[in-house]
Amino acid sequence: MRRKLVAGNWKMNGSIAANATLIRGVLDGLGAPACDVAVCVPAPYLAQCQSLLAGSPVALGAQDVSMHESGAYTGEISAAMLLDFGCRFAIVGHSERRAYHGETSEGVARKAVAALKAGLTPIVCVGETLAEREAGRTNDVVGAQVDAVLAALDSDNACKIVIAYEPVWAIGTGKTATPAMAQEVHAMIRARLQAKNADAAATVRILYGGSMKPDNAAELLAMPDIDGGLIGGAALKAADFLAIVRAA
Ligand code: PGA
Repeated sequence: MRRKLVAGNWKMNGSIAANATLIRGVLDGLGAPACDVAVCVPAPYLAQCQSLLAGSPVALGAQDVSMHESGAYTGEISAAMLLDFGCRFAIVGHSERRAYHGETSEGVARKAVAALKAGLTPIVCVGETLAEREAGRTNDVVGAQVDAVLAALDSDNACKIVIAYEPVWAIGTGKTATPAMAQEVHAMIRARLQAKNADAAATVRILYGGSMKPDNAAELLAMPDIDGGLIGGAALKAADFLAIVRAA
């Protein structure tokens, strides 16, 4: 049985004051969660959030990581640096980075490798645009994004990743994939993992992301291949984030 994971993706939101309020609100209402919980925060706030989360069940994550280990890469943040601040997770290949920062599936794979090498769990984001879905290309596009990462990993490391299926047309739009639509893509991703190796298919958690909120979380999370959520907007409100955690 895969333990579910609910991870917040704060994106470029927050401030020292707002982060403290949000994290205290989450920790106050959390109790002993039945799933794994994480928040992926903006890099400047890693130290602050590390100390706010110390001793709590909520893991810390970053929203990106460099594919390089160290050196002349101005502005980049290495996996070892994230580890220094207590990170357990790093999102890689979010669609906003693919779209606005020209990230390719090959680059995303290299970031996943760098994260794993340092001992971080990459949350590898994949997903199709509305045009791609309407053209009937969802499985081709998402399958190729998954395959690019799996091709870069040995069997052992393939078991250590998390995948987040985030249809681009559902992110921040209020439009959610129906549970059946999401399940279909998650099952396709699971089959790609199976083709790599059976252990990866059994152990890798595949999260759904894209306007997941308290009122649709339970039905999405009830699907057999949906192992949690990557939560954007609803992760910025403690009550909403907690309601999703409770649904998992
Ligand atoms: P959303 O974002 O929940 O605001 O749609 C999800 C994501 O982009 O990770």
